[in-house]
Amino acid sequence: MIDWSKLAFNYTKTNTMVCASYKEGKWGHVESRTCDDITISSLSASLHYGVECFEGLKAFNCKDGKIRIFRPDENAKRLIRSANYLGIASPSEEMFVEMVKQVVLENKEFIPPYETRASLYIRPTLIGIGPQLGVKPSDEVLFMIMVAPVGAYAGGIDAPVPAVISREYDRAAPKGSGSYKVGGNYAASLYAGIQAKKAGYPAVLYLDPKENKFIDEFSSSNFFGIKENTYITPDSSTVLPSITNKSLEQVAKDLGYKTERRPIPVEELSTFEEVGECGTAVVITPVARIDDKPSICGEECTKSYSYQAAGPISRKLYNHLTGIQYGEVEDTHGWCVVL
Ligand code: PLP
Ligand code: COI
Repeated sequence: MIDWSKLAFNYTKTNTMVCASYKEGKWGHVESRTCDDITISSLSASLHYGVECFEGLKAFNCKDGKIRIFRPDENAKRLIRSANYLGIASPSEEMFVEMVKQVVLENKEFIPPYETRASLYIRPTLIGIGPQLGVKPSDEVLFMIMVAPVGAYAGGIDAPVPAVISREYDRAAPKGSGSYKVGGNYAASLYAGIQAKKAGYPAVLYLDPKENKFIDEFSSSNFFGIKENTYITPDSSTVLPSITNKSLEQVAKDLGYKTERRPIPVEELSTFEEVGECGTAVVITPVARIDDKPSICGEECTKSYSYQAAGPISRKLYNHLTGIQYGEVEDTHGWCVVL
């Protein structure tokens, strides 16, 4: 029995995962498997050269007894874009969405009850398989979708976090892979993440890798700041185009706020009233303080910025977005797939 009150962002064994493999130019049948283990060649390019991309989305048990999946078509499009970057085959948007629906229905009892405000996290993953030695894209690909019931990634809307600016490490190169959801970007952010955790920061804020002058994003979420009734988020070619961020921008407009997507100089951090992380896993996690330090683990702190957390506008946006996801607020943009 799952203790829904203790859910964090962790692995749970569920009923099934669904998968399909691509070989000799075509996709095979979609299979449902009860075992999470897979067998692939030890010479798979995913293991040696990071030929891997993934997605993250959520399904919700809703107020009206229905299940809602949030914007799976957007995740499908982003996975296809990542796969094209890696030069590997990808499922069509339709195949992606159908497989997501299938895995959610096969694991219905793992979707946390409506009252818990938790959700079922869905992790589509595309990897290059098949033996090869050369550095080249894989001809054989495995697409699999796993699920797990999850609670808050950090502490949730009521648990603001401190963040540190990473002056020593970049997660992406100026013309590199930052805007694609490929595993390598996450590997590149682990070292800074470990340093930050040691120094007491759950969140690392990266700057633009070319000049280190503008705000980019956090290691697993986008950045937004709020001032003068305006929702402001970076326009940068090296951040992941977050589906949550795009949805929050729309919600902000719907609620009558202004929105801006533009480069945000680091100094502008001193002018925001509220700052937050946004993403599928973190939803909105308010940021209470951002420290700018030459070294994450060092004592010296050049500047420290403090925010109202969670401030009133972040909270309104959070309530509206999660309201749509739990079927409490009208889904005027047709974002949810209802099962
Ligand atoms: N940025 C990074 C680096 C992420 O890993 C994520 C998580 O997916 C996000 C942003 C947020 O994107 P989304 O809202 O589509 O989940
Ligand atoms: C998500 O929010 O879905 C992510 O992929 C972040 C993750 C790396 C925890």
